[in-house]
Order: sequence, then structure tokens, then C-alpha cells
Amino acid sequence: MGQLSVDLCGIRLDNPVIPASGTFGFGYEFADVYDINCLGTFSFKGTTKEPRLGNPTPRIAECPAGLINSVGLQNPGVDRVISEELPKLRKVFRKPVMANISGFSLEEYAFVAERLDGEDCVGWIEVNISCPNVHGGGMSFGTDPKSAGQVVSAVKAVTKKPVIVKLSPNVTDVTEIAKACEEKGADGISLINTLLGMRIDLKTRRPVVANLMGGYSGPGIFPVALRMVFQTAKAVKIPVVGMGGVSSAEDVVEMMLAGATAVEVGSANLVDPAASKKIIDSLPETMQKYGITNLSDIIGGAL
Ligand code: FUM
Repeated sequence: MGQLSVDLCGIRLDNPVIPASGTFGFGYEFADVYDINCLGTFSFKGTTKEPRLGNPTPRIAECPAGLINSVGLQNPGVDRVISEELPKLRKVFRKPVMANISGFSLEEYAFVAERLDGEDCVGWIEVNISCPNVHGGGMSFGTDPKSAGQVVSAVKAVTKKPVIVKLSPNVTDVTEIAKACEEKGADGISLINTLLGMRIDLKTRRPVVANLMGGYSGPGIFPVALRMVFQTAKAVKIPVVGMGGVSSAEDVVEMMLAGATAVEVGSANLVDPAASKKIIDSLPETMQKYGITNLSDIIGGAL
């Protein structure tokens, strides 16, 4: 069997497959479906300083090749994540987890990062500066190189864990944002978050999603994501985690050829809760088909 392991910012993953934040809860919810220890790791639900109820409903609009969501960072807040969610996760998951964090100010990002820095089960901090569903935070930090860099500095000052910055595709030149993050000490970049989109109900003539717009994800965005991973991997020296519409082992290989060290799987988990496991299970056969003996050898092979 081929070699599936990769190194992500100094931490070994048994394989490069990582369920993406917002599609995998706090992990333990999936433990009845399969043994989640087969995953490389997963990124838990975006966590903020204060608890958040999220956006008004409806929050989801179906699309031909994916869906639009406007969840609005619903989460119990970092203190309850630490006291209630992580203890449940520890019972079923023996690997370091990726902690996805969000904020509405530099202080909030730093607060959440510092709290999670004290948790031994947290391997990486994934800093979400790309949420399209909230006002005054999230994506507003990730569309400008200077504010993106400021978030990185604020988080790096309070944690020793590797900091991976999750970027938005809703920008003119993603490489400028990625380079600003690298300059301020980011240890990795993950991309892409969702594309801002909308649907209108023909019967009511109103937007389907109560928040009017939301983030579009699913197989339809894969080529856009791949292009942005390719461009970013060429522009920075730090590892890139690719995501956006990944739904098969072939997609994982393609993302890695474009420069991804690891690959997040998002919407596919919503279609089939076992999707990430099925992708991992079919990696060896896919590797054999394309003559790959060691997955880490193909990272950036198409650059
Ligand atoms: O909860 C959310 O709305 C998260 C969105 C995102 O970061 O894509």
C-alpha cells in the first residue's frame, strides 16, 4: 500500500483528508457513523469569544452543484467549547484537532486563540478571516492585506501552536492576502472559503436565504478553488491546505498536485456523513491508478 502520511506545519497526519469547519460539528457527533480516528484530523466549528445563535432562518439554499449557507457562526462560545465540547471529543478522538476561530475584533481573535492555546488536544489554530455570513468581522478582515496581517500578528502573539489562516475567494488577488499573512508569521494558509452567492424564490420573488446572501460551496466551486490553491502555493513558502468542492480521492490528488499539503472536505460531509472516510478508503486505489507511491511526493507536482 502507498504512503498516505503528510506533514502539516510540523505535525504528522496519517493522511491528508480533513473535514472542514462547519461541516463536522465538534467531531464526536460523527463517531456513531464511523471511527473518526481514520481522519488526518478535522477542523471544528468556527468558535468565537461569545456564544452566537447564528443568523435567522432560512439559512440554506440548494443549488444544482452545491448549496448556499448563511449559518452566521452559530457556536456556544470558546469557554463552553472548552468545558463541554472538547471533553466529549477527547473520548472518541485521539489525534490533534484543528481549532477554527473567528472574531469581530483583533482582541476577540486573540482571546479565543489564547484560550485554545491551553488545550492539549488542539494541534493547529485555523484562523477564519473569510466568513461571508457576518457583518463587521469574518470576511472584512480577510479582504485587505493589512487587516489580514494584523489578525495574524494578534493571534501569533498569544499561541505557540501553528497558525493556519483561512482565506476568502471573494477578493481580486488572493495571493496578496496570503503573502501578507506569511509576512506576519502565519504557519500555513487554507483556502478557499465559500463564494458569496444568492438565490431568489420565483414564487415569493424574495431571496431564499433570510440574510439575503450566503456562501456557495460544493462540487461546482472545485475548479475555482483549485485555481486559487495553485496561485497561492506558487506565491508563498508556507504549507497550503486546499479546499472547495472536494468530493473524491481524485479531487484530493488534484488539489495536492496544485500545491496543497492537505485537503479539507466540506459540503460532501453534508451530503453523506461518511464522505470523508470514503475518500480516505479510496485513496490507495486512486494512488495505484495514477502511479503514486508516496502522496507527499506529489505536493505541488503541477506547479
Ligand atoms: O457559520 C458560518 O456562517 C461560517 C461561515 C464560513 O466561514 O464560511
